[in-house]
Amino acid sequence: MTQRLLRGRLLTFHREPRNGEDSDAYTYLEDGALLIQDGIIQDTGLFAEISAKAGDVPVTDHRPHLMMAGFIDTHIHFPQVQVIASWGAQLLDWLNNYTFPEETRFVSDSHSANMARAFFDQLVAHGTTTAVAYCSVHKTSADAFFTEATGRNMRMLGGKVLMDRNAPEGLQDTPQTGYDDTKALIEDWHSKGRNGYVITPRFAITSTPEQMAMAQALAQEHPDCHIQTHLSENKDEIAFTKQLYPQARDYLDVYQSYGLLGHKTLLGHSIHLEPREFDALTETGAHPVFCPTSNLFLGSGFFDHEELSARGISNGIATDIGAGTSYSMLQTLNEGYKILQLQGLALHPLQAFHWATRGNACVLGLEDKIGNLDPGTEADVVVLNARSTAAMALRMDRVGSLAEELFVLQMMGDDRAIEEVYVSGTPSKIAPEQTTWNDGVQIVA
Ligand code: GUN
Ligand code: ZN
Repeated sequence: MTQRLLRGRLLTFHREPRNGEDSDAYTYLEDGALLIQDGIIQDTGLFAEISAKAGDVPVTDHRPHLMMAGFIDTHIHFPQVQVIASWGAQLLDWLNNYTFPEETRFVSDSHSANMARAFFDQLVAHGTTTAVAYCSVHKTSADAFFTEATGRNMRMLGGKVLMDRNAPEGLQDTPQTGYDDTKALIEDWHSKGRNGYVITPRFAITSTPEQMAMAQALAQEHPDCHIQTHLSENKDEIAFTKQLYPQARDYLDVYQSYGLLGHKTLLGHSIHLEPREFDALTETGAHPVFCPTSNLFLGSGFFDHEELSARGISNGIATDIGAGTSYSMLQTLNEGYKILQLQGLALHPLQAFHWATRGNACVLGLEDKIGNLDPGTEADVVVLNARSTAAMALRMDRVGSLAEELFVLQMMGDDRAIEEVYVSGTPSKIAPEQTTWNDGVQIVA
């Protein structure tokens, strides 16, 4: 029985704040404590009370920093760690010219294992303790992903992509091999430790109707698995999808007609939606996922969070590395704020931090396990330092409220603001290795 007491300023959400004044939505303690035992939060409250009850337990004092639930990233591509910052293209060219060639390299066990280590190092360094990841088409990439997650005892979700057309030969499965590999991966990894398998037809363009039918069979046979795919990110993508599925009423109908929409479905991007698609999202409970840095980087468009929320549709927020340009959920909230501003919505920082923690946990149906600091939940905690750079410290000198501090973190923070990260109660923040994985890449003018 290992116990640990964390002391610091503590913020945790009970529900989404309706606005900046909605203080019942969260608890904030100036001198708070978390009592952690065997990876679970046992008790939480004022330090004086918790420490008196706990007795002789080692204390880690994080004051004056802020303790929150670890960040959750609901859409990220593990095999794209070496694709980030690839210049000049929008979605379909970006996939064909940069992303698909890079993903073919994950046929190799050793490359997959090396990249999994680097990927998880980056997540932890940026304060992300749970992510929902796309692996490559190769089974070995998903094995490497879950092996690394298991070794770190992180709550991770992911799946190998199903893709059997419109991609290079080295990056295609078949309806049958995609089904067989997914079945084997679910058997080996789903619900083992903290792992969750996600059935992952990449998007309509790269799956034949036969493969979509296989994805439907997988979803029916494994209703406890999540499902993830991409929806209406880019206008050329939508036009091509309609050509490939001429019978579909709209893009979302491709997935709907194969029974892939429900509360466990995550739909990356969901930008250019038609009226029927809004209705179908409301009816099915599927969750759009907002990927702000990616949507700006690829020039994809503006996610309509206000309209979706008004219809009772709950949305995730995510990095979408490698079209996304930062692993940081702080930077993701920063760019998200700006995209919503362009549509006349000023998202309050309390709502923003709720979104990246408990909000994303709710989208995953995991709010009883992660995303808040309630007793009984898993001890994934991030410690934030709003004075982590000289520019932030200068700004913080004029800050007088929690909301202002959060906004400084959101607009100016990145991995430098992550003071510590606890994964299952274990301090895990490390400076990622700066390793050169590929010798022989020559830089030419
Ligand atoms: N649509 C299909 N695959 C991808 C991908 O890897 N990234 C993004 N941003 N969109 C996609
Ligand atoms: Zn994506």
